Amino acid sequence: MERDVAGGKTRALFPYLYRRGASASVWLVACGALLGVLLSPEIMKYLARLRSSSVEPGDGEESIAWELVEDSGGFRTFSSRVQGSSSLALRGETTVDEHIGRLYTAFLNTTSTLDWVRFLVEVEELPTQASSRRGGSGDGDVLFQKYDMPWPVKDREVVIRRSVRLDKRAKKMIASYQSTDHPARPITSATVRAIVYRTSWILTSLGSSKTSIEFETRTDPKGSLPSAMVGFLQVKFPRETVAGFVSSARNVELHPAMTKW
Ligand SMILES: *[C@@H]1O[C@H](CO)[C@@H](O)[C@H](O)[C@H]1NC(C)=O
Repeated sequence: MERDVAGGKTRALFPYLYRRGASASVWLVACGALLGVLLSPEIMKYLARLRSSSVEPGDGEESIAWELVEDSGGFRTFSSRVQGSSSLALRGETTVDEHIGRLYTAFLNTTSTLDWVRFLVEVEELPTQASSRRGGSGDGDVLFQKYDMPWPVKDREVVIRRSVRLDKRAKKMIASYQSTDHPARPITSATVRAIVYRTSWILTSLGSSKTSIEFETRTDPKGSLPSAMVGFLQVKFPRETVAGFVSSARNVELHPAMTKW
């Protein structure tokens, strides 16, 4: 009797399939198998990865499909080019043997970025109300950066706002950058003003001497770059940038906000 009731419900849910003559138990098994596949660890991992590596769309741009470019020495490099646009999306992720507090101290040192960001030749913190109020915590800062590109590529500059958030419970630092304007740095004809849709750095503590690093950037360099340059950016830039950042943290103090992390 019970089976009939269940069969009747299934029949009501899948009338088309029923007309084709399959029995209730066959369809229940099929649905169970499908659910099993959908909930399998591989699929869940895949979905989690899609979520974690998606860039928030900026300026009406749709989210992007990452392609794994390289996976070696514990470093994974991803890139994506949006069809019909000059914008570039790059991503690197790795885990390093370093306390997050040292990485955070290094991260907030704007001057030291000159030592480890390729092509960066000038950086300036532009005054904002937020940065003076917060006493140099890095949050709300507006930065000017100039990149000296190899000939014949024109130099690029950006004006970006940085926001930094600490999540104590998850032991995470989430920093993001986005293009903005600043009266101290009007656009001139001397260089090309590129657009940063979003650059993000996520540091996650995995113990007292282990930190996961995720770096992601989505920019429009404004004007096409030679393919060798694009190749360099897509394949080497994330790894080089993250490696340079990590080495800049080697001899710095733990940040006071993270000594207990
Ligand atoms: C920031 O980095 C520069 C260059 O590496 C270094 O000279 C300076 O002492 C650092 N500043 C702080 C506050 O650590």
